[in-house]
Amino acid sequence: MVKMQTFPHIKLPNDFKLVLTGDGSPSLQFFATDQLDEVMHHSAGAFSESLYIYQESLELAFSKTDSIQILSAGLGIGYNEILSVAHSLQKNRPISSLHSYEVIPYLKNQFINWLSEKPSDLTEVYQKILQMSADHYGVESTRIYDQIKALYETKSFMLHDSITEALEKSQERTVIFYDMYSNKMNSTIWSEEFLTDLIGKCAASSCVLSTYAATGTLKRALRTNEFQILDKPGYSGKRQSTLATK
Ligand SMILES: C[S@@+](CC[C@H](N)C(=O)[O-])C[C@H]1O[C@@H](n2cnc3c(N)ncnc32)[C@H](O)[C@@H]1O
Repeated sequence: MVKMQTFPHIKLPNDFKLVLTGDGSPSLQFFATDQLDEVMHHSAGAFSESLYIYQESLELAFSKTDSIQILSAGLGIGYNEILSVAHSLQKNRPISSLHSYEVIPYLKNQFINWLSEKPSDLTEVYQKILQMSADHYGVESTRIYDQIKALYETKSFMLHDSITEALEKSQERTVIFYDMYSNKMNSTIWSEEFLTDLIGKCAASSCVLSTYAATGTLKRALRTNEFQILDKPGYSGKRQSTLATK
């Protein structure tokens, strides 16, 4: 059970609510309609879930290739971006490019404001994630922030809108984080046809993909694109997640 609103001084638009998860890290609940809402992370721990599901794929990519080109689908509040930069600093391995997709302009803009040192509603949230990442990887939080900012300013970190934009031209990403809402929020982006097309266009010949989900449509799309699926249990007692390589 998610504990509700623990940052009462942070004012957000009515369709968002900040929640505290079990490991002390923040997550965001999005109210798409009165009947449909979703919390972005597992109630047991947003930070630990992001670390468990996504950072193993980056670790695998470090062992497979020198060119770390990340596609991160679902910026949300930026866990995967902040953790990846912290991880790369700890390993002393550069990230060549980081392309993040976020369909909600508000979330994209808050992150850009933070990186541009402008007021952002979510500064405290990003700072908390930054500090937890710094503690986990043993890297100064200012170094992580400076590095994300530098990647953004040199256009090595780019923020895009809908993930459907990634279909417009073929790209060569060596790491894919697919952290989208569930099927009930948007069935198109979990359909076999969409996933087959997306993976076919975005995965480099050597690539690692991870996501918290383990659907049949995703598995078929991965096999069609010659990925091998590794057996990985889900986070916090969930039966399965997906880690796949080619
Ligand atoms: C589970 S949350 C991602 C959590 C995020 N990785 C984090 O670390 O906070 C899913 C995110 O995907 C975004 N999203 C949903 N549909 C999208 C689409 N078609 N294109 C890009 N982003 C999308 C949502 O707005 C939401 O921020």
